[in-house]
Amino acid sequence: MRKKLLEYKNIAAQFHTIEGTTNTLNDIDLTIYEGMSLGIVGESGCGKSVTSRLPIRLLPEPMFKVTKGEVIYHRDGKPFDVMKAKQNGKEINKIRGKEISMIFQEPMSSLSPIHTVGSQMVELIRQHSDMNKKQAKEHAISMLERARVPRARDVFDDYTFQLSGGMRQRVMIAMGISCSPRLLFADEPTTALDVTIQAQILGLIKDVQREQNMALVLITHDLAVVANMVDEIAVFYLGYIVEQGSTDQVLKTPKHPYTKALIESIPTLHTDQALKPIKGSIPDPYSKITGCPFWKRCDKVTDKCRQEVPPFVTHENDHKVRCFEA
Ligand SMILES: Nc1ncnc2c1ncn2[C@@H]1O[C@H](COP(=O)(O)OP(=O)(O)OP(=O)(O)O)[C@@H](O)[C@H]1O
Ligand SMILES: [Mg+2]
Repeated sequence: MRKKLLEYKNIAAQFHTIEGTTNTLNDIDLTIYEGMSLGIVGESGCGKSVTSRLPIRLLPEPMFKVTKGEVIYHRDGKPFDVMKAKQNGKEINKIRGKEISMIFQEPMSSLSPIHTVGSQMVELIRQHSDMNKKQAKEHAISMLERARVPRARDVFDDYTFQLSGGMRQRVMIAMGISCSPRLLFADEPTTALDVTIQAQILGLIKDVQREQNMALVLITHDLAVVANMVDEIAVFYLGYIVEQGSTDQVLKTPKHPYTKALIESIPTLHTDQALKPIKGSIPDPYSKITGCPFWKRCDKVTDKCRQEVPPFVTHENDHKVRCFEA
């Protein structure tokens, strides 16, 4: 039996800004199990980052508001209702960075330019453990080594601006895992890097996940990136999960027209076929949409699709799809 770690139960969430209200997340039902790896895939603005920031309450409340549903984090077998806690209160601070950790696309946004790598790591480690300074330093160095940082002892004393992009990303991974989190969200961790470095960093994240036996949620707009990395994939479109299943199910037997279009738009080396871009564009987040979120771009659209949101239906072997025609 797989053990539940984090559950999104029927979540709906909005941003209220002067421009209007967005329906940023709609009916998000998602369970993350201990030790699993999940890829969250979808175009810009579909709600990937919001989904990852929600359980550690890193969103600008009350401009951001959950209007329906629950986020349940399972701590030592006990369910903890994340949205009921205080945003920056003691309970959330115990989880944030310690039990649920994040790495981002741009390391400089979460690493401090005015402190050394080591002092930032030591502070984080001491905040969440009872190690003394010397123990925390040794632990930080071993985490840098685990993130395959060469000359880890020297890098410990470096400032982040002295490091290359790939090296900063390794430092952020070392920080991300330094409190042995049970779940790591990696939000587009390699988008800003050269292709060869990308592959190294992804391989590193995968290795570290196995070594630490933690769950991993890898967020990307690029389906090709997750193919070799994760056990399961959830495809997001306009704040809905439109398809979810094992990596094989989603990539080899996709059922949703959006997933199929995403797969056809992946470049491959060994074909002369021209890429098929997805027709149409993503609607403005403030516009109101009735019916299926994808109908305007879909070849199989029917009258029903224009009027009703399709339910998220479970097909064989837990393959879930939100489409009347699937
Ligand atoms: N600070 C904000 N103010 C207002 N709306 C926001 C804000 N942040 C996010 N949103 C809304 O939430 C939606 C989802 O944003 P999110 O950052 O999760 O997208 P994403 O899938 O991570 O996109 P990307 O691939 O570009 O990172 C956006 O389309 C936007 O409507
Ligand atoms: Mg994002």
